Amino acid sequence: MPTMPATGAAAAPAEVPTTPPAEVPTTPTTAVPATPPAEVPGLPTTAQPGVFSPESARKDVPILHRTVNGQPLVWLDNGATTQKPRQVIEAVSAYYSAANSNIHRGAHTMAREATELYEAGRNAVAQFLGAPSPDTVMFVRGTTEAINLVAQSWGRGHLGPGDDILVPVLEHHSDIVPWQLIAEETRARVVPVPLTPDGDIDQDAYADLLSARTQMVVVSQASNVLGTVPPVREMTALAHRYGAKVLVDGAQAVAHMPVDVQELGADFYAFSGHKLFAPTGIGALYATPEAMAEMRPWQGGGNMIESVSFERTTFAPMPHMMEAGTGHISGVVGLLAAIDWLRGFDQQAVAAYEQALMSYAMQAMATVPGLEVIGSAAERIAVMTFTLAGHDPASVANWLDKDGIAVRAGHHCAQPALAHYGLESAARASFALYNTSGEVDQLVASLRRLQEAGPGAEKA
Ligand SMILES: Cc1ncc(COP(=O)(O)O)c(C=O)c1O
Repeated sequence: MPTMPATGAAAAPAEVPTTPPAEVPTTPTTAVPATPPAEVPGLPTTAQPGVFSPESARKDVPILHRTVNGQPLVWLDNGATTQKPRQVIEAVSAYYSAANSNIHRGAHTMAREATELYEAGRNAVAQFLGAPSPDTVMFVRGTTEAINLVAQSWGRGHLGPGDDILVPVLEHHSDIVPWQLIAEETRARVVPVPLTPDGDIDQDAYADLLSARTQMVVVSQASNVLGTVPPVREMTALAHRYGAKVLVDGAQAVAHMPVDVQELGADFYAFSGHKLFAPTGIGALYATPEAMAEMRPWQGGGNMIESVSFERTTFAPMPHMMEAGTGHISGVVGLLAAIDWLRGFDQQAVAAYEQALMSYAMQAMATVPGLEVIGSAAERIAVMTFTLAGHDPASVANWLDKDGIAVRAGHHCAQPALAHYGLESAARASFALYNTSGEVDQLVASLRRLQEAGPGAEKA
């Protein structure tokens, strides 16, 4: 059982053990059988050639076999974070058990090994994103840090009074607030792009808002609140006609669809490892060489310099210039393992499975009295934000939690998008490749019981 990932230019260092240390548990302590998925036409539960089966992913993810409140866990909070396959857990553990070292600066074997792993991770991310070279990939803490990095390192030198940054109303706060901060400093403007009633980005309004003043367009490849998948390639091409740069937020997309940053035409692409079955605290930012050439250091310190003197400091080449201080090396190891794990499945088949699961969930949710799914964009990922008449969203989440079902309730860091629907809060079920139609049935059954029990039942 390999515990160190093998994807990337540099192979795992030869002396890293390939089995986890004995004291690291590799099986869950509360072994509860996975919920048997219901038989649903179009939704396979057992292996079929060319068809993705969720069981092939579930068997790798220990936490999915625990119980919550005496019930088998149904994890439907994948939009917040995804659960980790044992391949990721074991890779991180093996790294700390046998390979831990700082990188780049040491002149010893283990420093070289750690450096090789770190750069193998960069190479794996580049391949995963369809980037032309590992040198176009910077490691960051996650999507939020990546966007702040672009706002600070690119925005400060390129934005000025009267410049526009276009941000759809749909976007996560991470796509809005970093730009508000830099706009305040540079006297640029953050301009909202309106939504249609369905929850699509209004493409006519977008075209009208673009102008010679537009310096930056920020858009998510998939929305965390409505699941909307906007026509990013077309939006990017249009923005480029005005000379604007485009930052694509891939936080919600990377786990659900094949990504090709070159095909999208993105100048910048950001994602978080923890939404891609990898550890928290690690993510990546892609930038084209042209965009990189326009970036200035945003944090100073070790690793990002070439030489330092009190008279003059020179900087390391990109991408290292953007990586001040010691990076999250074990996080990169985990990310490398996660990418390896995910690439072990047919990506098109996974995407097709998730689409079928979402269609099934949409139909099933429609049978719950008083339940309303927010947004009905033409293209979407398997994210369903909903309200239930007579029950506030936090109460719905509490009720479901008693049945072992984890959904999120709140504003989903997308207050303008919810406000578009006159809401401050909603519940959200978000799916991943390891979710099953049986889990959808459990969600729907629990919601129906709540509705039958009436208002206030969740507090009983
Ligand atoms: C679309 C989108 N962008 C950005 C983020 C922020 O990601 P992180 O908190 O990992 O930086 C999220 C998190 O939910 C998201 O869904």
